[in-house]
Amino acid sequence: MSTAAAHRPAADAEWWRTAVIYQIYPRSFADASGDGIGDLAGITSRLDALAALGVDAIWLSPFYVSPQHDAGYDVADFTDVDPVFGTLDDFDTMSERAHELGLRVIVDIVPNHTSSEHTWFKQALASAAGSPERARYIFRDGRGDDGSEAPNNWQSVFGGPAWTRVHREDGAPDQWYLHLFDVTQPDLDWTNEEVRAEFDRILRFWLDRGVDGFRVDVAHGLAKEANLPDFEIADDIDSMAGAQTGHPAWAQEGVHDIWRRWRAVVDEYGGDRILTAEAWVSPLTRMAQWVRPDEMHQAFNFPYLMSKWDSAALRTVIDDSLEAFEAVGAPSTWVLSNHDVVRHPTRLSLTVPSPQGHGIGPDTPGIPEADTAVRRGRAATQLMLALPGSAYLYQGEELGLPEVTDIPGDARQDPTWHRTEGERYGRDGCRVPIPWSSDSPAYGFSPTGLTWLPQPDAWAGLARSEQEGDEGSTLSFYKEALRLRREHGMATGTLTWIEDLPEGVLGFTVGAVTVIANVSGDPLPLPDGQNILVSGLATGTLPPDTTVWMLR
Ligand code: NOJ
Repeated sequence: MSTAAAHRPAADAEWWRTAVIYQIYPRSFADASGDGIGDLAGITSRLDALAALGVDAIWLSPFYVSPQHDAGYDVADFTDVDPVFGTLDDFDTMSERAHELGLRVIVDIVPNHTSSEHTWFKQALASAAGSPERARYIFRDGRGDDGSEAPNNWQSVFGGPAWTRVHREDGAPDQWYLHLFDVTQPDLDWTNEEVRAEFDRILRFWLDRGVDGFRVDVAHGLAKEANLPDFEIADDIDSMAGAQTGHPAWAQEGVHDIWRRWRAVVDEYGGDRILTAEAWVSPLTRMAQWVRPDEMHQAFNFPYLMSKWDSAALRTVIDDSLEAFEAVGAPSTWVLSNHDVVRHPTRLSLTVPSPQGHGIGPDTPGIPEADTAVRRGRAATQLMLALPGSAYLYQGEELGLPEVTDIPGDARQDPTWHRTEGERYGRDGCRVPIPWSSDSPAYGFSPTGLTWLPQPDAWAGLARSEQEGDEGSTLSFYKEALRLRREHGMATGTLTWIEDLPEGVLGFTVGAVTVIANVSGDPLPLPDGQNILVSGLATGTLPPDTTVWMLR
């Protein structure tokens, strides 16, 4: 057992039911080496700030060996650390420190595909059609007399065809391989027992090192319908979601056997290690199938994330979530931001929809003023943190960071931007390295001032150092909200709606706390009660885009 494993927080098998889990995007969190890309040593150096924030766990996006064509979601070796992020020893040091601080550690696992630099894929390219090496991936002959047409009409989530043709050593055209994402991310064939067994090994590798769980990438994508039939995608379908009902690549029944097998593996480790599904499926009753008692523990509540800032829509998605997850005995999760979506203070104020993963840029209409975005963002967070269940935060939201919209084209790195030739901005705007201190190079992100994406000048004022100790700051608001959420047991409470509120106002009780969110455009007279979380309220009235928590 590694020392990190020895230091795991005391076993509490149910911790995840109410946990607040903070997503670290390692490239953009803190850079100790000074190369402009965040790393594990940087994370270790900043963990105290997360313990002080009051979260229960951290989830790290991938830091594994990777050529970084999809920011690490293209993994070339699942059981080692990319030199850009450090070493396995750095991981152990980080994990040990997190555990000492009482923070659980969740790591990402990416089972739908490998990098094209993975040994397996190199072996597949060097082997003949029909070989066991190719059978780990989804290779097929092309259509047409000379096999020059892709095996089916599926599109990559990042744009363009989901198939690429390979060539033999002598240059002759050969088979095609499937990649639901970038061309450098070939899909694995999960009907192959060798693939299944390899992932059991990978899970155990990290569990033995003491991780508290896994965030499972593309948990709706591993099983494909046999024969890979053509499918016409509706125009309005969200790209990352891609999960239109009936699509032969997504949400197939076969994935559930895989999750049952994974659940048995994590359960070997004492019952408090968790699996969280990144499953873009709807409706919620269907998503709940991912968290049946013998499958995963949690699933990201994307319908909640995608809800508009609209009282009726929010009430519906909250009700549907509580009902769907409760029906299978799982907690609902709540999430507003992550590394794939427009940061929620900006997104919730947009006047035009931004499909998930498409991103926004300088010419997107309706980009809100900073003040409007921050106010609405806080109101949405305060509503979310009042809801029973478990919540996910994305690094930088506690600073009120907006989406960065003016990244120059030549600085953009998301494959979506490149594969669509600039038609979709992609996800770089939510991935900009975060500011720690206003008067240091790169605002304290990196000692050299290098940053892999440019930081806006306005971020000096949003740096953590500026917000620490300022009662009115977004950081102080997050700390206070997390403290009160815990103190009043809000995550374990039962939600009861308050009826007969003016249009555009949401109200409910959870335990002893009354929660009112003013989603309307008008100020609202406040009901009687003791306001326990002040967020810029005028006395006696609740301004638009404000949420209040009150004790009766
Ligand atoms: C979902 C991840 O969140 C995203 O960042 C990534 O590009 C795709 N899966 C492919 O792994």
